[in-house]
Amino acid sequence: MLDWSEPNANPALHPAANAAATGATGLGTIDRGAARVSVDDKRMINARADVNQLLPLKYRWAWEKYLSGCNNHWMPTEVSMQADIALWRSKDGLTDDERRMLKRNLGFFAASESLVANNIVLAIYRHLTNPECRQYLLRQAFEEAIHTHTFQYIVESLALDEGELFNMYREVPSITDKAAWALKHTQHLDDPDFKTGTPEADQSFLRDLVAFYVIFEGMWFYTGFAQILSLGRRNKMVGIAEQYQYILRDESIHLNFGIDVINQIKIENPHLWSRTFQDEVRGMIADAAELEAAYGRDTMPRGFLGLNAALCEQYMHFIANRRCAQLGLAQVFAETENPFPWMSEVMDLKKEKNFFETRVIEYQNGGALSWD
Ligand SMILES: [Fe+2]
Ligand SMILES: [Fe+2]
Repeated sequence: MLDWSEPNANPALHPAANAAATGATGLGTIDRGAARVSVDDKRMINARADVNQLLPLKYRWAWEKYLSGCNNHWMPTEVSMQADIALWRSKDGLTDDERRMLKRNLGFFAASESLVANNIVLAIYRHLTNPECRQYLLRQAFEEAIHTHTFQYIVESLALDEGELFNMYREVPSITDKAAWALKHTQHLDDPDFKTGTPEADQSFLRDLVAFYVIFEGMWFYTGFAQILSLGRRNKMVGIAEQYQYILRDESIHLNFGIDVINQIKIENPHLWSRTFQDEVRGMIADAAELEAAYGRDTMPRGFLGLNAALCEQYMHFIANRRCAQLGLAQVFAETENPFPWMSEVMDLKKEKNFFETRVIEYQNGGALSWD
């Protein structure tokens, strides 16, 4: 008969204890009778602990972010697009410059959400050997799917040319340059033989995390948000602006998760965060800001009320310095003011709008399902 009262009947029998017989993926052979997981064996990368066991938790911050993500659940189809459709169709509703910016912004995000999702699922998930972080990655992956859904919904609502929008990342050089830059930092993780465990490989993994979490989601997305939310503040394309607010709320957690992951890897592997590597990361952030400035000039050759390429470049420098501070790096640009102070108010969206009380769509639940 099984005895459930005795946690480790004879741990000495299995000195390898939690050693990852199931491997970094969790899909290897089961080590029958291996001892129970010890928190001390849990690690962000190259863990010895079984990745198939969520508990005991080691990184509560990762679990908290998973819970926050779940609390923020939303669907793009809950936002009315009527006002946007009317404005988009009306001849004088938007200037040519506003239309150009809007389309390129949507085009940038439409493919970027998929690039980010593919990177999470196919590169990061495999090498982040901690179950509570993976729990968050699964939630984040679903949120990226919701974000991609948003762009499908916008294309459908406004009857935009879907090929033009979704293929823009291969047709518009200022967008292609950003996507190509980010992909460069994940491509070798795509090699089936890539494994973490050497300083070189572990640093490659860190470069991927910086490129996607800190730069793609944490810098480039932010000027994209500022562009659309600036339109929304002038009462234009308010449906899309509302959707971007929800995306921004999700993305600020994605970014903070990425920062926490990088900082925790630094704590556990201080040898990776050498002076040379820090300078390299600062160089990546500086290059990314330059790519974003080019994108700003391309999407807003003339600029409009409260928004132009120069302000976006200044915002990027402000954001880049903040990201450096979050990673414990010396700042890259001269101290500058935030040209869009209203962005912080928008980011404090939380539940002031009583979004969850006003939603019009009821989710199916167990009681509503019919099996006939
Ligand atoms: Fe996203
Ligand atoms: Fe994201």
